[in-house]
Amino acid sequence: MKVSIIGGGGRVGSDAAFALQCAGIVSEIHLLDANEKMAEGEALDLLHGTSIIGDQRIYAGGYDRAADADVVCITAGLRRKPDESRLDLINRNVSLFKQVLDSLKSANLKKDAIVFVVSNPVDVLTRLAIDALKWDPARVIGLGTVLDTARFRSLIALETGLPASQIKALILGEHGDSMVPIWSTAEAGGIPLVKLPAFNATQQGKVFERTKKSGAECISLKGGAGRAVALSIAEVIHPIALDQPKVLPVSTQLAGEYGVRGTCTSVPTLVGRKGVLKRFEVELWPREVSALQASSKALDATWAQVAK
Ligand code: LAC
Repeated sequence: MKVSIIGGGGRVGSDAAFALQCAGIVSEIHLLDANEKMAEGEALDLLHGTSIIGDQRIYAGGYDRAADADVVCITAGLRRKPDESRLDLINRNVSLFKQVLDSLKSANLKKDAIVFVVSNPVDVLTRLAIDALKWDPARVIGLGTVLDTARFRSLIALETGLPASQIKALILGEHGDSMVPIWSTAEAGGIPLVKLPAFNATQQGKVFERTKKSGAECISLKGGAGRAVALSIAEVIHPIALDQPKVLPVSTQLAGEYGVRGTCTSVPTLVGRKGVLKRFEVELWPREVSALQASSKALDATWAQVAK
């Protein structure tokens, strides 16, 4: 299993490579970056660790080296400023992303390769990738709210004192300001979170607000998130690499779920080697469904500007 990381010289791309290396699940990692020297440096640094952690092939190179990749993970792009929304980034990132897609079109990728979009605004760029590549939408996946879900679970754990790995709570919708917390199914080791006396509505609201602002919080503290993004990327690549399907809140093009069609956004999705295997329309509280629909409308409005 080979993964090519476009933007592999950047913080998110190189952290993702490190997460994949440590997990030892993929055999080959290719780093590509507009800044070739950075890609080479990161690849060399990772290569130095192969004697300790595993025998992966790790190297830097251009688009020609992506031709035999099983997963092409796109992290390239500008990062937002602390006070900017991910949707504000659109003007600055679309032309760069289109160049990446053009290069991928010429790279003669494998017929069963998966394109995995991480660059922001991820939902809009995932839709752009489907539109530009003209691939089966099942083979184009965005990181969506996998990262927000990870943050949400970890922050709920911090607030309640319960183990983070036992918290099951989803964020769906946009990876951005209109993301939706799903309290209706949130639980910890079988205990519904909304019934926990020590975790009232005010505390729930506080945890969700911090989750929503987590990206900005990392930008103002350390210039941008990297580690949890990288683990979230690895979480999506592993079920593809192992062909052991997993349900994840990735961003994919909806085909009528929750009344939404065409928009790329996050709902629970079964992901495996072939990409999207199935999307689930689980029963949610009516206000969660309305918030999900409003979130899709916000994404559609941005898409209308991009598609012009
Ligand atoms: C964040 C970026 C990756 O949320 O969108 O940190």
